Order: sequence, then C-alpha cells, then structure tokens
Amino acid sequence: MKLANFDIEAFLRDYWQQKPLLIRNSWAAWQNPLDPNELAGLACEPEVESRLVIGAQGSWTVEHGPLAEARFAALGQEPSTLLVQAVDHHVPEVAALIAPFRFIPNWRIDDVMVSYATDGGGVGPHFDQYDVFLIQGHGRRRWRVGQNCNADSLLLPHEDLRLLAEFEATDEWLLEPGDILYVPPGIAHDGVAVGDDCMTYSIGFRAPSRSELIADFADDLVADIEDDDRYTDPGLATQSNPGEISAGALDALHAMITEKLSDRKAFARWFGGYNSTPKYPEVDWAPEEATSIEEVREYLANRPTLARNPASRLSFIHDGTELLLFVDGECFECHGETVAFAEQLCAEDMFDVVPEFAGSAAVQSLIVQLINQGSVAFEDGE
Ligand code: SIN
Ligand code: CO
Repeated sequence: MKLANFDIEAFLRDYWQQKPLLIRNSWAAWQNPLDPNELAGLACEPEVESRLVIGAQGSWTVEHGPLAEARFAALGQEPSTLLVQAVDHHVPEVAALIAPFRFIPNWRIDDVMVSYATDGGGVGPHFDQYDVFLIQGHGRRRWRVGQNCNADSLLLPHEDLRLLAEFEATDEWLLEPGDILYVPPGIAHDGVAVGDDCMTYSIGFRAPSRSELIADFADDLVADIEDDDRYTDPGLATQSNPGEISAGALDALHAMITEKLSDRKAFARWFGGYNSTPKYPEVDWAPEEATSIEEVREYLANRPTLARNPASRLSFIHDGTELLLFVDGECFECHGETVAFAEQLCAEDMFDVVPEFAGSAAVQSLIVQLINQGSVAFEDGE
C-alpha cells in the first residue's frame, strides 16, 4: 500500500529526522478505521495501556487506565483526550495503517497510539524522543510545530506530562481526515481538537538510547563471563611510584572491556533478540495446547494463509549464506529454503504459504515453533 503523491526518496532525504512535513490526504479513500466506542472499550481492558487527559491549555490532569466504563459517561464539559497505546496490536484495521510507512525498517517501528478528543482537547505543547506520523482519523485538529528541543529545554512542573514551558510556533495547520503530519524527534508540537470526535493515529518509531544499548548488551555479556576471567600481570615490571596505575595496566584493563564490547557477531545476535522482545507480551496467540508438526503439515497441504501476530516483532540479520531470524526475542538460524521463507515472513504480515515452503521439513519445523510461541497463526485461527 503506497500513499499517492508522496515521494519516499525525497521524504527520506529532506525530512526524515530533520523537519516536519504536512502530507495532505494521500489515501485512495480515507476511512476512519476505529469506532470511538471501541477505543473506549480498549481503555477499560487491564492489559491495555491508556490515559485520560482532562483540561486544556494551562491546566491538565491525567488519569491512568484501565478506566471504568462509567468514567466516560461522567465526563463533564471540560475538554478531554483519551490516549490508548499499541492499538494496532488489538485491531487489524489499525495495524493496516502502518503499511504505507514500511519503507522504514521493522526494527524502527514501535506501535500505533490512538487518541480521541473533544473540542479543545489536547495533551499540551511537548516534544517526543521519537519520529511520529500523526494521521488525522476523524474530525479536525489544529497542529502547531515549533522549536528544536533537548534535555535542557525548560518544562512546566507536572507529575504526568512533560509540558514545554515555552513554545515558539514555526508552522500551523488544520488537519482534516486523512491528512498526515510527520514530526521528527525533539521538535515541539501541540495539537488541539477543533470540534468534537477528533481522532488521531500516531504511527510511532523507536530509537535505542546509547545508555540502554550499553547497559543491556553489557548485562548480556556479563551473564556468560566466569568469575575467574580476571586481570593478570605476569612479568610485572617495577615502577618508580607504587601509587601510579601505569599506562600499560590501564591499556590491559580497558582491553578487557573493549574486546568484549566490540565483538560484532555477539552484538548482532544480542541486538536482534533484544530489539524483537515484545513490549506487550499479553497479546498472546500461543495455542492452549501445543500444535504438533503433523497438524502443521496437514494445514500446509492446503496452501493456508499464515498471519503474523500484530503484537509480534520480527526482523532478520544476514550472516553470510545464513540468516538469523529474530521473532519476539527468540533467534532462529535459517539455512537453505528457510532463508527465503524468513524473508517473506518479515516482509509481509499475511501471505499464502507456497508449496515450495510447505514441503520443506525445515520450514515446517520453524512454523511449528513460531505458532507455539504465539508469533504466527494460520488465518482460521489454528
Ligand atoms: C495526540 O494524539 O493527541 C497526541 C499525539 C502526540 O502529540 O504525540
Ligand atoms: Co507528541
């Protein structure tokens, strides 16, 4: 699915990670994919992350989900915004909104947050750490974008919201259904509902921080290092002052760390698993009773459709003729025909399994494992 009049190459060259871009309705026929009542229903579910922001410019209060059904009826005249995270994990029609943005690799995509606001509702001027495509789903919203922000930007004191103390608007647009606003990380933005029934779909991305990469990779390495792997100094040379930590000692100590941290192969394996670990493992497709290889073979004989769990994270890394497939934190080493199968699985969220794959024992075995860990299912739910 491609957006009309949207030049991907030009976007990546001139806007991605650089500056905001308004894309006027580029969908073949825009249709709001979610009913507000369904969104409210999701906000009542304990496994779904949601927030209700009440108030407008200057005074906001936040209630965290799960919300009681009665809460919605009790909302007064004050503007309000309901925000629900990872709606794509629960609603296939919302997951389908990601398709036009798949020119960004899977591993950079986070999820789709959906907001519903009444007239004047909004979450206030703020900046995010991530790129976002804000799709206007229903109703209208006035968006303002502003200055570049960072960790030094002044924030208003607020327990739950990171509100900017200053906002210098550089552009302002009224978004109609189907319009899309791209906002790069760090750019101040503020969206206010114009009229009721304002729904916004945020296609969110992620970018690991250096601190989380170092901390988590180091944790992984440390798990495999024995306690007797220690500094040694056979042939120690005398030194004039016993207080000095010599340059030679420092080099050897530093190397103990950098040798491990610079192991690219180990890093690739660790990163693939780390990055594909699901954020919301509650959306569990695993069958109650483990599926057997015989059952899978029977299915495969009829060219079934295989679907990915929308909450699953999949990506792969080429390693010579091999391919490492990462699915929901697990690594699968693929050879021969499983390489092409893994590539198709990562590229398409739903596809018919062709006989060439269906007849391969290695592919069958991979499918069984993926079904039993809840990452894929045959389309009829098996
Ligand atoms: C919203 O949908 O109201 C807020 C989205 C955002 O600013 O990131
Ligand atoms: Co934002």
